[in-house]
Order: sequence, then C-alpha cells, then structure tokens
Amino acid sequence: MATTADEIREEVRRRYAESARAVTERSGGCGSGACCVAGDSDASKFGEALYDAEQRGGLPEAATLASLGCGNPTAVAELREGETVLDLGSGGGIDVILSAKRVGPSGIAYGLDMTDEMLALARRNAADADIRNVHFLKGVIEQIPLPSDSVDVVISNCVINLSVDKPAVLAEIARVLKPGGRIGISDVVAEDRLTPEERAERGSYVGCIAGALSKGEYEAGLEAAGFEEVSVQFTHEVADGMHGAIVKACKTETPAAKGLPVIQPAAKTGCC
Ligand SMILES: C[S@@+](CC[C@H](N)C(=O)[O-])C[C@H]1O[C@@H](n2cnc3c(N)ncnc32)[C@H](O)[C@@H]1O
Repeated sequence: MATTADEIREEVRRRYAESARAVTERSGGCGSGACCVAGDSDASKFGEALYDAEQRGGLPEAATLASLGCGNPTAVAELREGETVLDLGSGGGIDVILSAKRVGPSGIAYGLDMTDEMLALARRNAADADIRNVHFLKGVIEQIPLPSDSVDVVISNCVINLSVDKPAVLAEIARVLKPGGRIGISDVVAEDRLTPEERAERGSYVGCIAGALSKGEYEAGLEAAGFEEVSVQFTHEVADGMHGAIVKACKTETPAAKGLPVIQPAAKTGCC
C-alpha cells in the first residue's frame, strides 16, 4: 500500500493513466481499478451524468467517456467572453473544452494535468471538437506552471481531494489568480463529523474519498490562502457523510490589504 506522498501521487498517476488508456481503447471508462467513477459509488454520482444533454451533445464521445468528475464546475463558474480559465487536473479535457466554448476565441482555457495519457487524450478530444483556444500543460497542481496574476477563473473537478499537499494547491490557486479572480470547484467533501480515519473507511484515496477535506477544513484552508466570500455547498451524497460539493471563493486584493489608502469604487463589481 502507498504510504509516502510520492508513492500516493504515483499510484494516482498510474490509476488515471490506466483510465485514459481504457477510454482510448474503448474498453471502459475507468480501467480495471477504482477511480472516481468506480468502487462502491453509483455511477450517476460521478462523470458524464452530471452534464446536461446539451453540453454532452457538443462534445466528442471520448471526452464524455473520460469524464471522472463529481460535479460540473463550468455550470457554477459563470464564465464570460474573453476570460482566461485554468482547469486543475483536466483529465480527458471535458471542462476545458466546455470552458473554451464559453470564453470564446478572445479567451483562453488551460488544462493542467500530471498524467501523459490524460494529456494526450485531452489534446485529441479538443482537436476532434475543433476547439483552438485551449492549451494543455503538463505539471502538478501543487506547482502550477503559469505566472502569478494571470488567470481570471480557476476550475477543477474532483481533483483537489487527490492532492497530497492541499495547502500548496490553495496557495498556488491564489498566486495565479488575478486580483478579483474567482474559483468554481467541484470536489468530494466530508461532513465535519468524520475523522480522516472514518473518511478512509468509506473509500480509497485514488477513488476520491479518503483524501477529501471536510467542509470546515476547506473553508479554513481557503481563508488561510487569502480568499474571501468562501462557500462550500454540498450537492449530492456520494458515501455516508461524504458529498459532491461546489466550492466558491474570490481573491480580492483591496488597496487596504497592501496598506494603501482606500478609494471607494463607483460600483461594486463583485467576483463570486
Ligand atoms: C478524477 S480525475 C478528474 C479528471 C477531470 N477533472 C474530469 O472531471 O473528468 C483526476 C485527474 O487529475 C489528475 N491529477 C491528480 N492529481 C494531480 C496532481 N497532483 N497534479 C496534476 N494532476 C493531477 C489525474 O491525472 C486525473 O487526470
């Protein structure tokens, strides 16, 4: 059993590489092992079932087959024309392709993933969908390969629970977001009553259960990383006391935060 952070990350990478290969070979969406879709959870709680028919209709089959998320972050992020969006753990690319359509040719959608097989699948899916304003980057979400203050919106779908260093992920999201930028994340989140051991009894780490933060831990982590207007809302139960959830927050950098005099804006722009 994987125990160190490096071993856990390698096991996650291996499992999702297997999943990407299974989609490419059309032998099933999740390979032979557990991933976010499989295990004791019902398939309607993960993956393509969480997208409406209109969204699914405009996508290559392999992009929907590869969908392993626990929500639909593009539905909550309210993306606007011209924005730059970053999807953490982009998998087969479903949310990057949907985001690219929303932000249009004047916007950009980045997908970041550590698994070569997923990146190859996502690039093929974007080409099949004839989407050009996308860039798939190889890297880890704990060290995002983009400059500071360069992204309007960070989305992610069932990936942060898989990270071995969640404070680093939240700090990196805060770094790459522009002031006023926002997050719209779907993730598995535990009720505060569950200890880490109780979460691990309900499912595996690679199965997106054992590594989940609790609601209170998520809120405190985002606040510690400098976010405001933090909200974590449960949407559907995926295991006893464990839920698919929508996580929203804003990076607000006011002059006061830098110790400068505050000039009242003409109108509140709001970010969430
Ligand atoms: C559960 S799948 C979700 C994929 C996609 N977001 C979706 O909704 O279909 C998790 C994905 O995150 C990637 N991943 C997991 N941990 C990662 C990390 N620390 N850094 C980068 N990618 C990671 C995996 O390679 C995999 O493609």
